[in-house]
Amino acid sequence: MNKMIQAALLGLFATSLAHAEPSSQVAWTPDKLNFVKKGNSKNGKELAMQCAACHGDNGVSSAPEFPSLAGQLATYTYKQLQDYKNGQRAHPLMTSIAAGLSDQDMADMAAWYSSLPPPRNKAGKKDLDIAERLVFEGDGRRTLPPCYTCHGSSGQGEKMDIPALAGQQAEYFTATLTAYRNGERHNDIYSRMRVLSQQLSDTEIQELAQYYQQLQ
Ligand code: HEC
Ligand code: HEC
Repeated sequence: MNKMIQAALLGLFATSLAHAEPSSQVAWTPDKLNFVKKGNSKNGKELAMQCAACHGDNGVSSAPEFPSLAGQLATYTYKQLQDYKNGQRAHPLMTSIAAGLSDQDMADMAAWYSSLPPPRNKAGKKDLDIAERLVFEGDGRRTLPPCYTCHGSSGQGEKMDIPALAGQQAEYFTATLTAYRNGERHNDIYSRMRVLSQQLSDTEIQELAQYYQQLQ
């Protein structure tokens, strides 16, 4: 990442951190990483039958407002389920569903979903110039780093907590970016997505959602 953008962003993150409650209770210690890595996907497959009505039999969601989970990093899925259970991320459906899950259930289902092929979009490709610029170049005037520096050049996600975005439902994508922007979703450690989304217009968010949905 460009050094100046990085420095400016760190400043922004530090400012917003000064007032923040902890955005997650998940701390990626080596033990925790190992625990999630050892999730039992066979067991996870059985448990995930209770999720299939919304997230699909193979983790490809059944409606535009439900996120797909197939191919997602296990650590990201695990963190989201913990955040719902602990109250750092709230949603009328997912909060009560996560309340009934143990740490082991979460690790097992996270392993199962991460083993599945990511969603593929069958619709034709559109040219999305605004989104493509934001993804690969960002915007220095707004201290907006390119999305690919964190999410990867194919939207495949990175390391522990940066999710894969390729093939994600555009409607869910738009809703969740808008929720970061207005602070309703605040479980992103260091406020990374809150700071960035506050600089995006509705049109840009919608184009980015289309862009990632058609990426595979
Ligand atoms: C009745 C529908 C429904 C069921 C059943 C359901 N979910 Fe969800 N799930 C949703 C919706 C809607 C969201 C998006 C919520 C939000 O915006 O925070 C979601 C979000 C998630 C996310 C966050 C995804 C992301 O990309 O951040 C995970 C992980 C998840 N669900 C896992 C599960 C698991 C595991 C089960 C089964 C134990 C399950 N869900 C059952 C509707 C459902
Ligand atoms: C500094 C690194 C970084 C950059 C740059 C970045 N992201 Fe993220 N993004 C993250 C992290 C970390 C998360 C997960 C936070 C959490 O746990 O809620 C995330 C989450 C998301 C999510 C939620 C995914 C889901 O399944 O719920 C979307 C959508 C997203 N980012 C889109 C973007 C877009 C579009 C851009 C470029 C405009 C971008 N991100 C740039 C780090 C980044």
